[in-house]
Amino acid sequence: MGPISPLRKKLIIYFIGFTAALAGLLFGLDIGVISGALPFIKNTFKLSIEAEGTVVSALLWGAVIGTLLSGVLSSKFGRRKTILISAVIFVIGSILCATSRSEILLIGARLFLGLAVGVASFTAPLYLSEISPQKVRGSLISMYQLMITIGIVLAFLSNTWLASYATFGGVTGGHWRTMLGVIAVPATVMFLGVLLLPESPRWLFLNGFKERAVAVFKRMHLNDAEIAAEVKEIEENLKIKQNGFEMFKTNSNFRRAIGLGIGLQIIQQLTGINVVMYFAPTIFRIAGFATTDQQMWGTVIIGITNVLATFIAIAFVDRLGRKPIMYAGFITMGAAMVTVGTLFNMRIEKHPEFGYFAIFALMIFIIGFAMSAGPIIWIICSEIYPLSGRDLGVTFSTATNWIANAIVGQTFLLLLAGFGNGNTFLLYGGLNIVFIIFFLMLVPETKGVSLEKIEANLLSGLPLREIGQPPRARRAVELPVRSARAH
Ligand code: BGC
Repeated sequence: MGPISPLRKKLIIYFIGFTAALAGLLFGLDIGVISGALPFIKNTFKLSIEAEGTVVSALLWGAVIGTLLSGVLSSKFGRRKTILISAVIFVIGSILCATSRSEILLIGARLFLGLAVGVASFTAPLYLSEISPQKVRGSLISMYQLMITIGIVLAFLSNTWLASYATFGGVTGGHWRTMLGVIAVPATVMFLGVLLLPESPRWLFLNGFKERAVAVFKRMHLNDAEIAAEVKEIEENLKIKQNGFEMFKTNSNFRRAIGLGIGLQIIQQLTGINVVMYFAPTIFRIAGFATTDQQMWGTVIIGITNVLATFIAIAFVDRLGRKPIMYAGFITMGAAMVTVGTLFNMRIEKHPEFGYFAIFALMIFIIGFAMSAGPIIWIICSEIYPLSGRDLGVTFSTATNWIANAIVGQTFLLLLAGFGNGNTFLLYGGLNIVFIIFFLMLVPETKGVSLEKIEANLLSGLPLREIGQPPRARRAVELPVRSARAH
C-alpha cells in the first residue's frame, strides 16, 4: 500500500466518527419527534392526559432497560455488533410505532424502540472513545453530543412539514405515522454504515484478538509510531481490570462517586429541559399561539437555538471550567423559568404580548441549558469514576438520566392540570436555583485535571468538591502531596 495523504487519513477517521455518531442523531430524532406527533396521536386514539404521558415516557423506560443491558451486550458481542443490534431495533421499532393500531400497541412499540435508544446512548460514545486516535478523541465525542441536538432539530423540521404541509392520500397535514416511521430511514443508513466500520481495537485486545486490533489501526492508516502509541495506551489501560461490582460493595469512596453521578443526572433532567423538548407545541399553545403552524415553527426555532448554544459550551468548557459555566447556566435557566411561570400566572389570554415575552424567556432557558447542563453533566460523569469502575459508574448515571427523563415526561401534563400552568414553571425555576447549592457543596471542578489525579483524590477520601482542582488557598500546600498520590 502506498503512502496516504493526511487529508484522506482524516476523512477515514471522520467517516468512522460520523457513522458512529449517527447513533446520537437517532437518539435526538426520537427525543424530538414526539412533541410534534403527540397532538395528532391524541386525536387518533383519544388519549387521556395519563396516556399521553405514557406514550412519551414509554420510550424512556425502554431506554433505561437498554442502558442496563448494554454493558453486558457490548462486552459479550463487541461494540460494533451491539451498535448494529441497536440499528436493527431502531428500524423495526420505528416501523412498529408508525403502524400501531391502538394506544397500547404504540406504547409497546415505543418501549421496544427505547431499547435501541438506551443501547446506543451507552455504546456509541464508548465505541467513539475507544476507536478515535488520541489527538481527535475530544472532538469526536463532542460530535456525538452535537448530533443529539441536530437530531432533535431535524425531527422538529420533519414534524413541521408533516404536520402542516405534506399531502398524502388527499390529506394535508397531521401525518403522525409518517413522523414516527421516517426515522427508519436514517436508522437504515446507520446500519449500512456500521457494517463498514471496524470493531473497537480496545475490545479486540480485551478479548485476545491483538492482531485484529493492529489490523484495525492499519485500516485507519495510522503509521507504525502511532500504532505503537495506541497499543501501549491500550495495554496500560487493560492492566486495570473492570471490577465495578466488587468495588461498589467494598469501597465507600467509589459509592460516593456513584452517588454524585446519579445526583448530577437527576439535576440535568430536573432543570426542565425535556418539558420543553417534548411539549414545546403545548407550551406555545398556553402562551397564546393558537395555530399548529405557529406552534411547529416556534418549536423549530427552539431546536435551532439548542444546537447553536451547544457551541458556547464546546468553546468555553475547557477554558472557563465546568462550574462557572454551570452557575451561569442555572441562574439563566432559573430566571427564565420563573419569568415564564409568572407570565403564565398573569391571565395571558387578556395580554397577548405576554405570550411573546414567555416564548422569549423559553429561548433564554434553552440557551442556558445548551451552554451548560446539556454537555457538561455528561462530561463530569465521564470524569469522576475510577477507571476500574468506570463501566459500572457510567451505566448507573446513564440509566438515572433516562429514569429521571421518564419521570419528567410522565408528570409534566399532570403537573399542569393539578398545579397550574404558571406554578409548574415556577417549580422548575425554583429547582434550578436550589441546584446551585448542590454544585457549591458537592461538585468538583475537573477542568485541566488528569483522570488519574481525580481518581487518586477520590480514593484518598477527599470531599467530593475537592477531588478536582483544589481550592485556591490550599493549593500550594496540597499540590505536592496530591501529585505524589497520583503516581
Ligand atoms: C439530555 C437530553 C436532552 C438533550 C437536549 C441531553 O444532554 O440528556 O435529555 O433532551 O440534551 O439537547
